[in-house]
Amino acid sequence: MSKPFYITTPIYYVNARPHLGHAYTTIVADIVSRFHSMRQVKTFFLTGTDEHGDKILRAAKKENLSPRNYVDKISGLFKTLWPELNIKYDCFIRTTDTSHIAIVEQVMQKIYDSGDIHFSKYKGLYCFGCERFYTERELVNGKCPDHETEPEPIEESNYFFKMSRYQDWLIDHIKINPDFITPERYKNEVLSFLKEPLEDLCISRPKKRLKWGITLPFDKDYVTYVWFDALLNYVSALGYPDGILFKTFWPVVQHIVGKDILKPHGIYWPIILKAAGIPVYKQLHVHGYWNIDQTKMSKSIGNVVEPLQLKNVYGLDTFRFFLMRDMVFGLDSNFSEMALVQRINSDLANDLGNLFSRVLTMVHKYFSGVVPQIDTRMEEEFRLGLKSDALQAIKTYEKNMEVFAFHKALMAIWEFISHMNKYIDLTTPWVLAKKKSSRKQLEVVIYNLLESLRIISGLIYPIMPETAETMQKHLGMDPKKPFYHLDSLKTWKTLIPGTNLPKSITLFPRIDLKNGDTSLSGIKGQSSEPVAIKPEITLDTLNKVDLRVATVVHAETMPRAKKLLKLEVDLGKKRTIVAGISANYTPEDLVGKQVIVVANLKPAKLMGILSQGMLLAAVDENGCTVATLDKKVKPGTILS
Ligand code: ME8
Ligand code: MG
Repeated sequence: MSKPFYITTPIYYVNARPHLGHAYTTIVADIVSRFHSMRQVKTFFLTGTDEHGDKILRAAKKENLSPRNYVDKISGLFKTLWPELNIKYDCFIRTTDTSHIAIVEQVMQKIYDSGDIHFSKYKGLYCFGCERFYTERELVNGKCPDHETEPEPIEESNYFFKMSRYQDWLIDHIKINPDFITPERYKNEVLSFLKEPLEDLCISRPKKRLKWGITLPFDKDYVTYVWFDALLNYVSALGYPDGILFKTFWPVVQHIVGKDILKPHGIYWPIILKAAGIPVYKQLHVHGYWNIDQTKMSKSIGNVVEPLQLKNVYGLDTFRFFLMRDMVFGLDSNFSEMALVQRINSDLANDLGNLFSRVLTMVHKYFSGVVPQIDTRMEEEFRLGLKSDALQAIKTYEKNMEVFAFHKALMAIWEFISHMNKYIDLTTPWVLAKKKSSRKQLEVVIYNLLESLRIISGLIYPIMPETAETMQKHLGMDPKKPFYHLDSLKTWKTLIPGTNLPKSITLFPRIDLKNGDTSLSGIKGQSSEPVAIKPEITLDTLNKVDLRVATVVHAETMPRAKKLLKLEVDLGKKRTIVAGISANYTPEDLVGKQVIVVANLKPAKLMGILSQGMLLAAVDENGCTVATLDKKVKPGTILS
């Protein structure tokens, strides 16, 4: 058996309900944990809640609850939400657990005894939202960059942790272990931060100001700074220092966090571990933000999307798929329900769903729903590279899942789906079915298609576990045996001829948004309300956008997508563009019009049509108005 695998999420603050951002991180952890179980390794998946500190105390007061009752209530919301999203954690830790508190005290004492903590008076600018002091240099226009509020000057005596002692060690460690922080941009961010001398970290809060925390073992007038308490959850949950879980899983720990908490995880945490004599973690994986209208989705802004609402309207697996397919791990992504609906309709209903029911319908039509027996002499002849395509897909998938490139892992599966469709087009089973003499060939073709679907069901398992199981059931596989082990996926020909298959079903129903609708769930925050001006860019950046005048030469509606129009435009060359403007324009309105097109936008498939560019339009409460010029110019003219 290969090495075990340990994955953690941040422990979330209990000052508000869970939202899509928290769900994303926790679903990623679930997916990688399930992926490692495909390799049959021992996995441990930790999540939980962060329950001490001023922020929590104030939230409790606002609800007129004691801090105890309040944290129990909100922590419960997180704990019960995760199973609803099919997230199978092994341990849910709370920083108010007595076992956690005991370990925080133990580690604090250890570091104190080693001489890395000293007591002194400090005057500084304190952000109550972040619960930490800020240096002038870190502020943006005098404000906390996260909360956009002015920090308050306060003066008090506190305990400080001398992080600078470990600065050179940390720089070396990051350089020697290039995968310590991934993706690379975040490693570079940490290294660039480490170019400046590290300041001492204030690790206590006087009880006269804050009582809701873990008392310092060496001074009962102080509580522990919430980050020092929280980070230790990753070891306390394993029963540090002697627990068997700690011995098994700590050496292989990988953390997942959002970029908002890069600094505590990329700098404080390795230094705390080093100072406490605990081996430093193996890897830190950092992802970007889910935004709404270009603004970070966050509880303080209030523009949050509730995961359960999406699950209830669109189904769980489709939602999990969308999160993995639309965000490049490490970069920001804009959430919109339209994008979700498009993904469901094109990738799931159209590509995977259609293929699945197409193949199963053929099994029923040509073989009365029984997995065909195949003549081994024919086998090779009709594989037409399907087996090697499958193996290639598995290889690319594995490589990308390993490094958190989920979108690429999914693209590899979808490429295989398109190979399967080509295989059907080439072998034309409906023609083979017409003649008795080609019966053996038909058997091989259908068997190969079923085998390919089996492999797909295994590969999608971590991302869409329910769909994977439904597929498995319809392929007649033994429900007691795990169908997703990579070893078995790499073995061709495991479906048993003669097995009776249940009737085909629709894996993913299509979703039709009515004209003008952008939301089925009623989720707010995706509207066309005035948004803040986007951050400044240079002329250089602007010049990267290739804006051209194009004449619409032909336009037509798309029968399966009521909101979309397919346009043929002339911008020196002919191009096809799919635009979501049919609520406001008929094809006749557009033909002959000159429009403005982003000519170098990466082509994207919309409802099966490759759209090569985008029309510029203004969108307000009345719908959209296409941007035009006030005089005719030559098609292809560049806008500058
Ligand atoms: O920071 N997009 O807790 P927190 C993507 N208690 N991910 C998001 C997100 C968004 N818009 N919003 C939140 C804390 N997240 C500390 C952690 S760990 C020892 C202590 C996710 O409730 C993302 O994972 O503010 C982010 O890092 C985390 O929630 C912050 O959760
Ligand atoms: Mg936060």
